[in-house]
Amino acid sequence: GDPAPGGPRVVLIGPMGVGKSTVGALLAERLGTGYRDTDADIVAAEGREISDIFVEDGEPRFRELERAAVRAAVAEHTGVLALGGGAILDRGTRELLSGLPVAYLSMDVEEAVRRVGLNTARPLLAVNPRRQWRELMDARRHLYTEAARVVVATDGRTPGEVAQAVLDAL
Ligand code: S3P
Repeated sequence: GDPAPGGPRVVLIGPMGVGKSTVGALLAERLGTGYRDTDADIVAAEGREISDIFVEDGEPRFRELERAAVRAAVAEHTGVLALGGGAILDRGTRELLSGLPVAYLSMDVEEAVRRVGLNTARPLLAVNPRRQWRELMDARRHLYTEAARVVVATDGRTPGEVAQAVLDAL
């Protein structure tokens, strides 16, 4: 649907560990707006951690909660909004992003292995992080790209440089 007038100034998407919250906080500071992230909104609304929602209710239910969180945030928030790494897997969530100033923060597989590696709650990534990252990126890359107005590569860049690149690109 059409974005609410005065909707988010910037929406950040991209894989976990790419720096959405760090860059988002910097962007909010530079734009003089608030920062909001849907993972935190879901945890607050549910009163439990995201990993518990996955285990107790399954990923499909999490994606529904996430879609509702994105819908509310897009309607209410006029600052910088960051989404969870898998939000774009849901068609309804993708539709909510249409027309918004969405920036995809990308990183290559080697950067992902370096930055996140084993340090994740996702058990699958622990088996063979490089292979799992490659599969995750192969499955999601086109969804990120299609949902985004701009793509900003983060490889070898500091969060401050990434934030500036987002501002320049949007
Ligand atoms: C997920 C990424 C996480 C969180 C959930 C699922 C994913 O968000 O929403 O654990 O499917 O990639 P971050 O990208 O903020 O870590």
